[in-house]
Amino acid sequence: MNNTTSKKKLFIKTYGCQMNSYDTKRMEDILRPLGYESVDSYEDADMAILNTCHIREKATDKVFSDLGRIRPHKKAKEDKGEQMVLAVAGCVAQAEGDVILSRARYVDLVFGPQTYHELPEMIAKITGAYGQERIINTDFPVEEKFDHLPQENAVTGPTAFLSVQEGCDKFCSFCVVPYTRGSEYSRTVDGILSEAKRLVAAGVKDISLLGQNVNAFHGDGPDGKTWGLGRLIREMNEIDGLERIRYTTSHPCDMQDDLITAHRDCEKLMPYLHLPVQSGSDRILKAMNRKHTAQSYLDTLARFRDMRPDIALSSDFIIGFPGETDQDFEDTMRLVEQVGYSLAYSFKYSPRPGTPAANMQNLVREDVKDKRLHALQALLSSQAVAFNQSFIGKTVKVLFDGRQTKPGFLHGRTEYNQAIHVEAPDRLFGQIADVTVNSAGNTALHGSVAIQDDDLAA
Ligand code: 5AD
Ligand code: SF4
Repeated sequence: MNNTTSKKKLFIKTYGCQMNSYDTKRMEDILRPLGYESVDSYEDADMAILNTCHIREKATDKVFSDLGRIRPHKKAKEDKGEQMVLAVAGCVAQAEGDVILSRARYVDLVFGPQTYHELPEMIAKITGAYGQERIINTDFPVEEKFDHLPQENAVTGPTAFLSVQEGCDKFCSFCVVPYTRGSEYSRTVDGILSEAKRLVAAGVKDISLLGQNVNAFHGDGPDGKTWGLGRLIREMNEIDGLERIRYTTSHPCDMQDDLITAHRDCEKLMPYLHLPVQSGSDRILKAMNRKHTAQSYLDTLARFRDMRPDIALSSDFIIGFPGETDQDFEDTMRLVEQVGYSLAYSFKYSPRPGTPAANMQNLVREDVKDKRLHALQALLSSQAVAFNQSFIGKTVKVLFDGRQTKPGFLHGRTEYNQAIHVEAPDRLFGQIADVTVNSAGNTALHGSVAIQDDDLAA
């Protein structure tokens, strides 16, 4: 019944970060040779995977409510004598796999982020002729998953993620990542470059290098030496056909000169930096175990601005960390005013089980957190508007990476990572073109392109 040639429907729901989006694509790549085709609905799926995120609160609740929604469809398939393999993957699986298996008896498979290359074997055990078993696989295998990923990497547009590093050894006191993704691991330079070249050959123009701590990258180079991220980017800058390089997410303590100067030397490295600071208060940064101060962070940003004065800056903030006073919060506001961000993400602190901060006293009241978050987001939003509006009337280079529902409109990204909606002919999809910016808000720009005679005829 389950032979490898018959077509099967694969549904994957992705929560959380870009690393999870990358993992989802690679799971699809692994399962495609087994006959699985991706579908948008779990209703008649032969396999449904929830690729989960554990970084902030309510993660587990969301997973259980999604499982509850899928359950009747699994039952309906079983009533027809068919099977739906129901799996939970990602960081909730890693952190709470046993809870999932015992609370949701109908889940067949729980697997962590380091094990998805073993999916074919896991599925064979579940659907196999020798009877079905439920599986939990949350190992951190010594043999790395990257060595086992298929060569093929399905390309669906001009932009792609490329995972170069995983895991984190920083142990910020609020964060689950070192526990769910394990310790830092860097892929080899050859492996990364050949994946990048394959992507470019398939039409990709913009590659985002991914890692939980991407600037801690230290991969084995072809010359027998260890390469940092700056050196890797310099090499990628030479790939013909590749137009844009980005990287995310970085830690202030791992910034090497070679990466900072790459922003001056590599024309393909985009003028955008996401460098989370989390708080502007040294007291809170210490309690967070961030190992940097507000001033050392500002000094690092100044070095980037020396290399690339137009660089757009972005950050993450946590509001209401245990013990955060009005003064600490004011320090965060002052830091934001000093920097001037183009875009930033801010979150209310939520205790994550198993992290040191989860045992801290002096919790900040929810209504205080709400008030502070609101004030911070208002400030960040006004900075984003000011940044975006400074482009009105100017011409920017846009890579068109999506079609809008409204015909005749394309979605794109500027070099500064702004989203932009443009009335543009479809021939520009996948291309880079000059766009005149007409208007701007806090989340996106609007623009127009010069129309050619051919477009009018088309
Ligand atoms: N509570 C709130 N925000 C968190 N983040 C990570 N852990 C927590 C937590 N426990 C935020 C940080 C990080 C981003 C990915 O998520 O700002 O940079
Ligand atoms: Fe989490 Fe800190 Fe590592 Fe970022 S650097 S993944 S916040 S522990």
